Amino acid sequence: MTMTANLDWENLGFSYMKLPYRYIAYYRNGQWEEGQLTEDATLHLHESSPCLHYGQQAFEGLKAYRTKDGSVQLFRPDKNAERLQRTADRLLMPQVSTEMFVDAVKQVVRANEDYVPPYGTGGTLYIRPLLIGVGDIIGVKPADEYIFTIFAMPVGNYFKGGLTPTNFIVSADYDRAAPHGTGAAKVGGNYAASLLPGKIAKDKQFSDVIYLDPATHTKIEEVGSANFFGITKDREFVTPLSPSILPSITKYSLLYLAEHRLGLKPVEGDVPLAELDRFTEAGACGTAAVISPIGGIQHGNHFHVFYSETEVGPVTRQLYDELTGIQFGDVEAPEGWIVKVD
Ligand code: PLP
Ligand code: COI
Repeated sequence: MTMTANLDWENLGFSYMKLPYRYIAYYRNGQWEEGQLTEDATLHLHESSPCLHYGQQAFEGLKAYRTKDGSVQLFRPDKNAERLQRTADRLLMPQVSTEMFVDAVKQVVRANEDYVPPYGTGGTLYIRPLLIGVGDIIGVKPADEYIFTIFAMPVGNYFKGGLTPTNFIVSADYDRAAPHGTGAAKVGGNYAASLLPGKIAKDKQFSDVIYLDPATHTKIEEVGSANFFGITKDREFVTPLSPSILPSITKYSLLYLAEHRLGLKPVEGDVPLAELDRFTEAGACGTAAVISPIGGIQHGNHFHVFYSETEVGPVTRQLYDELTGIQFGDVEAPEGWIVKVD
């Protein structure tokens, strides 16, 4: 394997970078045409494409990891394919099969392999699949034609602190999703709804927003860009269960690892804002966020500190080591979690 790109791998942050190749496939006449790699980073869309007007679009996020022996691997890409299929169903878009999805991801990673960060730098290749409804439709109805495209870029930390805790703020005034809306689907509209509360949070120096359940505003749902988890005094790994949060692949992986590798009790259930004292540690988890410890949460005039504002808690660190150990190939993975790109 080669490694020719010359980048500051340790300090990548989370920014767009144009890589040489991306994948694109068109859906026309009721079926997917053969996709291909292209160097063209610009999409050419009809002005009345439903993705532009009515938000008929979906995306995914996953990563490729460089292992110690120099090979490259993906973490549970089939789960991203399945989530994209569920999102497609919700927005009346055609499904991309798991086989087509994983094959296209591999093509993009292989074609841009020089940009998969070296092992040990903490960097990864972030992969962004995108499915959009296009064509000349002006009534509110699903498109007849679709584009499925995948691009990628090397990334480092999403939240500035990495494994150093950062602080989050509860959004009292805005929700990201409705109780039975599209919160569980990975659609751009959820993120459009989060831009304003996200800006308010960042202007106040918080890393991101914690959203409450949209029906009662009493329970934690998730972070704008990641799921929430807490560790209780009696060694429970607790994450909110709700139809309006994004089912995080990282979160489900952590529920499994917490139980089977760390001996914690995995719990999906309500996380009332009034009961934060239960938690000795808390964190945000997701593909981009990995595991980002939450130092404290601002809610109105109250600031609740979990483990510490400066130190990661021991269980969060253990979970981080187990998860990233698996992703980078240093720790044995549960069956089917790792897909090699060869
Ligand atoms: N919640 C939201 C709103 C997200 O954008 C993400 C990122 O994908 C997650 C949770 C985490 O999901 P995953 O672990 O599948 O990346
Ligand atoms: C991801 O973790 O893949 C996400 O989609 C989060 C995104 C908001 C950067």
